Amino acid sequence: MREILLLSGPNLDELGTRSPEVYGTSTLADHVEATRARCEAAKLSLRHLQSNFEGDLIEALHAAREVSAGVIINAGALTHSSWALADALAMFGGPKIEVHLSNPAAREPYRHLSTLAPVVDGSIAGLGRLGYLLAVDAVVALLGRE
Ligand code: DQA
Repeated sequence: MREILLLSGPNLDELGTRSPEVYGTSTLADHVEATRARCEAAKLSLRHLQSNFEGDLIEALHAAREVSAGVIINAGALTHSSWALADALAMFGGPKIEVHLSNPAAREPYRHLSTLAPVVDGSIAGLGRLGYLLAVDAVVALLGRE
């Protein structure tokens, strides 16, 4: 079974209690389980890594080049600052989708830049849980084109 790698960046482990007015009350585990179910319905497995450390996410992307068919990433605030994560993502050859629960374009100016946007196939923002599910659908569609 082909594997999708879901990466969650800093502070997403605090979902549920972190700014619920922005991110809702679902935990990261809730989002991951829903994403996993969507993957399994498409006969894909899901591997998830959350880390508050940039290097962990970069190393996971390096390893993904050998084992994963696609990548879905919510890099949290690293989205707005990490050129190193963008470089690692650029090296991954399969479909890759950036997801944000909130809509960073409608928030503070420092959230308007995504270093990842230029190196992913597409970005989904502002749709909460639905964004993760649509990201799986997008990866499946892009894999179908290969
Ligand atoms: C986020 C948006 C980022 O700006 C923020 O730093 C996060 C979460 C989102 O899912 O809406 O940590 O990526």
